[in-house]
Parts: sequence; structure tokens; C-alpha cells
Amino acid sequence: MSMSSPAVEIVSTGRYLPDRIVTNDDLREFVDTNDEWIRTRTGIVTRRLAREDELAAEMAATASRIALERAGIAPDEVDAIILSTATPDRLLPSTACDLQALIAADRAMAFDVQAACSGWLYAMSMGEGYLAAGRAETVLVVATEKMSAILDWTDRTTCVLFGDGSGAAVLKRGDGSKGIVSSFHASDGRLAELLWRKSGGAKVPLTPERVAEREHLMLMSGREIFKNAVRSMAQACDEALERAGLTGDDIDLMIPHQANIRIIESTAKYAGIPMDKVYVNVDRYGNMSSASIPVALDEALEDGTIESGMKVLSATFGAGLTWGAMVWQF
Ligand code: UT7
Repeated sequence: MSMSSPAVEIVSTGRYLPDRIVTNDDLREFVDTNDEWIRTRTGIVTRRLAREDELAAEMAATASRIALERAGIAPDEVDAIILSTATPDRLLPSTACDLQALIAADRAMAFDVQAACSGWLYAMSMGEGYLAAGRAETVLVVATEKMSAILDWTDRTTCVLFGDGSGAAVLKRGDGSKGIVSSFHASDGRLAELLWRKSGGAKVPLTPERVAEREHLMLMSGREIFKNAVRSMAQACDEALERAGLTGDDIDLMIPHQANIRIIESTAKYAGIPMDKVYVNVDRYGNMSSASIPVALDEALEDGTIESGMKVLSATFGAGLTWGAMVWQF
């Protein structure tokens, strides 16, 4: 079976990480935890946390400016901004519109995608769709997450796991030699309450009592999420590889969602990809939700891990539940 040829190219990428580095030991200021537990259960050593006054849209603007500059594309050449976030700066309007204003992408339509940790791969598929259908010439696909704003800093089972950051990519139609080869996406809303915020929408509006109970913050059933993550990422890898006409043996590098080193190892093992072909940055940044994959992709391109000619498999999962995978040819 021959590989399907990509219609849409990843022209450039960019990333932004807040300056503040927080160690596992630093977290003992908030919760009863320790470096050994966090390292052995998750692989996380440090994470970056945004300033309190730093906005998700501002982080996205920095990552986007870098990606656009590298592509030699002016902001007013962008036709569409598709922004993934589970941590919007406000509920209305979208963070994408704030980003549009910040970078002066004067001709662009802009909207948010909410698929939690899977959001950037979902957004990449949407960008690919607009371009392949001839509805846009240039699409900016961004993920930006200020997880620190929705964490319960008294809950040690969640607050130690996450970090803040942003990643961006510029997409254009290519000549068929490189770009997005295949993708697969799925969801299961019956499992919504494994990873959620109880209050703060039309269904359960915020009240002072609910805020006092910390119901507006993130809640997670870690073990259940873990099991589902391994199962669903394995399925997503199978489907995306099959749609690409490839097997795990053809893959030069895997960029999985960076939630937990044990989940990454299990997924890589299932896909038949040795760990020396897996890009890992969960140790430095923790789980940046949907920003994890574009930040890792940008680093891997910048540090030379990804070379021209390589085939890269990315896989993700998150709240929703949502999951997916994508194959890229570089
Ligand atoms: O992008 C999707 C986001 N979600 C995830 O990726 C999370 C997926 N799940 C996980 O990564 C793992 O389930 C966790 C890392 C969250 C937890 O690891 P685990 O091996 O499943 O541990 P556990 O939840 O079963 O907890 C084991 C023990 C508990 O103590 P007891 O009840 O056995 O006495 C916890 O209270 O570890 C305790 N514990 C901690 N201890 C020190 C939980 N959190 C901490 C902590 N520091 N931060």
C-alpha cells in the first residue's frame, strides 16, 4: 500500500513558554506532595506557570508571531485563525478573536475549538479542511493553555500535573510532497465527568457557594482517565496509520500528547515505536493540555530531531472524552 499524498503543508511553527519555572519541591508550598512521587508516577520534573496577569491570548500571540515570521507571512495575509483552548480568557467572545486583534490579522475569521487536550489536532484537521476545500489560502492553527487558572491548588491529585504554554503552526496548500498525510478523531461524551469543571456554564451557573466549594475548578478521576488514554491513543494510532497506508515501522518519530510518561511509554509500545523515537518534554513542562503537541513539534523542528523526509505520528487524548492522531510527512 502506498502512502497517500498530503494536500496541506505545515509551513512553520512557533511556541511560547512562560518564564517562571516551578519545581516539584516548589509545589509543597500548596499541597502535601513530593518530588519522588511526582517523578515516578508522571515523569514531570518542572512546569512553566504564567504570571497571574498573563493572558492565554497573549501567549498565543507570541507563538503566532514567531510562526508567521518564520513563514515570511504578514498577519493580514491570514484567512483563518483556529484556536484550541480549554482555558479561554473569558467565556464570550472567543480567545481566537482576542488573538486576531493582538496580532492584527485584519482579514482573518477567528474562532475557538474546545476539544480539551485533543484540541490542537482537531484544529489542525479543520485548517486542513478549509485549505483542501479552497476556502482559505493561509490558516493559523494555535493552541494556548493557562491551566494554572483552572487548577485547584489545594488538590494534589491534579495541580501537580499541569503547566502553561502555547504553540502555533501556519498551514498552506502544498505541492503534495509533505504535510498532513492522515488523521483520525473521536469522542465519547458519556465519559464527560471523568475530567471536567462542575460549575460555570448555563447548566450549573456559578454562585458564591459553588465557588466557595471550588466547583469552578478542574476535577479529574486520574486512574480512569489513564486507562482510557492508553486504549484510545492506541486505537487512534492504528486508524491514522491505516489511513496513511503506513505501519508503526514506517514512523521516524512519535510526538504524543505529553500528560504522563507512563501513558507515553504504553502508547509507544502499542504502536511498536521504540522510546528513542518518541519526543518527550513532559519532564520540563508537565501537561499543557492542547498546547503540548505544538510546543513539542516546534522544539523537535528547531533542535533538528525532525529532519526533512521524516514521517511523524502524533496522538492525543483528553477531556470530553476526545482523542485522535495525525501523520505528518516532513
Ligand atoms: O490530558 C489528560 C489529563 N489527565 C491525565 O493525563 C491523567 C491520567 N492519570 C494519571 O496520570 C495518573 O492516574 C495520576 C498521575 C493522576 C495518578 O497516578 P496513579 O498511579 O493512578 O495514582 P493514584 O491516583 O492511584 O494515587 C495513588 C496514591 C494515593 O494515595 P493512597 O490513596 O494510595 O494513600 C493518592 O492520594 O498517591 C496519592 N497521591 C499523591 N501523593 C503525593 C495523589 N497525588 C499525589 C501527589 N503527591 N501529588
